[in-house]
Amino acid sequence: MISRYSFGKPFETEALVVKIEATEGKLPFFRTDGEGNYYYDFDDKDIVYGLGEQIRGINKRGWTYTSWNLDNPHHHEDTHSLYGAHNFLLVDGKELFGVFFDFPGKITFDIGYTKRNEMHVYADRNDMNVYIITGDNKKDIVNQFRVAIGQSYLAPFWAFGYGQSKWGYITEDDVRRVAEEYAKLGTPLDSIYLDIDYMQDFKDFTVNPERFSDLKKLVESMKEQGIHLVPIIDAGVKIEDGYDVYEEGVANNYFCKNEEGKDFVGAVWPGKVHFPDFLQPEARSWFGEKYGELTKLGIDGFWNDMNEPAIFYSEESLSEAIDAVASLKGKNIGLSEYFSTMGTIQGLSSNPKYYDQFYHNVNGQMVRHSDIHNLFGMNMTRAANEALCKLEPEKRTLFFSRASFIGAHRYGGIWQGDNLSWWSHILQGMQQLPALNMAGFIYIGSDTGGFGADTTEDLMLRWIQFALFTPLFRNHSALGTREQELYQFDSCKAMTEMVKIRYALIPYLYSEYLKAVINNDMMFKPLSFEFDDEESKCVEDQLLIGNELMIAPIYKQNASGRYVYLPEDMMLIRMRKYDDYETEQMTKGHHYIKVALDELVFFVRKDKAIPFAKPAKSTSELDLNSLGRLGYEGAKYEMYMDDGINPDVSATLKRVEI
Ligand code: GLC
Repeated sequence: MISRYSFGKPFETEALVVKIEATEGKLPFFRTDGEGNYYYDFDDKDIVYGLGEQIRGINKRGWTYTSWNLDNPHHHEDTHSLYGAHNFLLVDGKELFGVFFDFPGKITFDIGYTKRNEMHVYADRNDMNVYIITGDNKKDIVNQFRVAIGQSYLAPFWAFGYGQSKWGYITEDDVRRVAEEYAKLGTPLDSIYLDIDYMQDFKDFTVNPERFSDLKKLVESMKEQGIHLVPIIDAGVKIEDGYDVYEEGVANNYFCKNEEGKDFVGAVWPGKVHFPDFLQPEARSWFGEKYGELTKLGIDGFWNDMNEPAIFYSEESLSEAIDAVASLKGKNIGLSEYFSTMGTIQGLSSNPKYYDQFYHNVNGQMVRHSDIHNLFGMNMTRAANEALCKLEPEKRTLFFSRASFIGAHRYGGIWQGDNLSWWSHILQGMQQLPALNMAGFIYIGSDTGGFGADTTEDLMLRWIQFALFTPLFRNHSALGTREQELYQFDSCKAMTEMVKIRYALIPYLYSEYLKAVINNDMMFKPLSFEFDDEESKCVEDQLLIGNELMIAPIYKQNASGRYVYLPEDMMLIRMRKYDDYETEQMTKGHHYIKVALDELVFFVRKDKAIPFAKPAKSTSELDLNSLGRLGYEGAKYEMYMDDGINPDVSATLKRVEI
């Protein structure tokens, strides 16, 4: 059962697709003071799940998390905010309930940080809807919530292939070379991503004619090889006379305004930009239609970036910083001047004060950006999705975004933002998955190999062994970091075998993805969502995938194995190649399992089996009609399949027993 409790004057976020009448009476479970403070008293063993793309563990107890979409490329364990805001929690212990704080501004969840046994949720204003969800068990509560927030975005089948990306593919020759090298190596590949360099001076919906002389032709020749090109679109529109997007946005008042009613100026990759006011329906359809400039060239997928929105500086703050540095000229700089100047420079990027300085036009009312900050990225992807549903109604377009709020899951997937080539970020990326599923995001994945910093060969291998299970499986890295296409490494053959295994698993992964979308279910679950024992509740580094598999990735350098907890008897699968593997029946309990660097280990649950395909060079060549099986003898699997492209999933959905 879902009940809504309404406080003050909540902003309509459109997170939910159903209207739930407000319940009179006291909010259950929490103590409130009427001013935006909510308290819950924990028992020692209570577990808190959720918060989507937040750092730290599957169990959120012991830290403070702030929902404030933030460009945070160097995040560590002590971060409070990342790229998405997903205010849904599930408390399991002396009570069992879900709670969604439907609030689009900054809201903080102190989950046993200040006081070990207290949760304190607070926002600067108490204008919000709080939804309480009760049910039979955790899965039931999540399912009810997911029904209320609407069906998740459906990605095309080809988006389950392997993708190669790099900020630094400057010319079309760079792109062709990636395709050639992978073909030489025999690595399956379905997509190559175009980062900001394909654009002319980082202007959205433009193509640099010198570096990409004929994008349409390039798209066609890649398609012939089974490869989709997926360009990036940024939120900020470059201020430049003669640039149509800029001029139309100004003429129609489609940009966010400052206090004086002028178009607000921030700065991102192109230098000074205006931000489309994605909260205005007209601005959304205008910006959305621009994606058509690229779909006309045969493009069928996009990644939306910098849409927290990230702001590198404002004109005022930059000039203050320059003055601060200039004032030090010729001085002997001591500790306090050094730190204060460094603080001024570092504080330029995404400074909270910028977000108080611009406004949205919501039905004629000027709404301060910081009051609805977390809705911005969601409405950018909504703009793209809604326009493409009209422009290309026959097919699914791939979308994934960096910033998001609950509700954005209906318009696209997300990637988990700028991570680093750190071992800890394999684990971090994995721990986010079930919480993202709880919030409706199913088409998800993190930059494989790590975005910032230099990867290593062993990190890459171990990362692939985890990421090959995620719907979005994309190798992406930052400009200036070590090149990490698989053919750059001595172990490229072993890496290729892992990618082939991914393709062999696609029938299962895609089927479980469809089930999660259609049935409002989770594809990635903590063990405790299926098993009741005390040990399962504490497992932070293993996940169930669908109803048949369990993974336990290696995320430590030089580890030659790891401890794994089996909540029931399971079958271990040890694979070096899709057709070179061993199986071992294992009993419930704790085990130490050796895993060589070139091996993939995963587990099939008791009395279950999964379909297994012969890999192909791209998803379009996968033969789904002659599938093998992996797992227990005699076990049946219900496979969901569709044509992978029709936006109406029910039109081509088949459920086949394998
Ligand atoms: C941002 C994105 C990253 C991209 C870069 C350049 O940092 O998160 O994926 O490569 O911008 O566009």
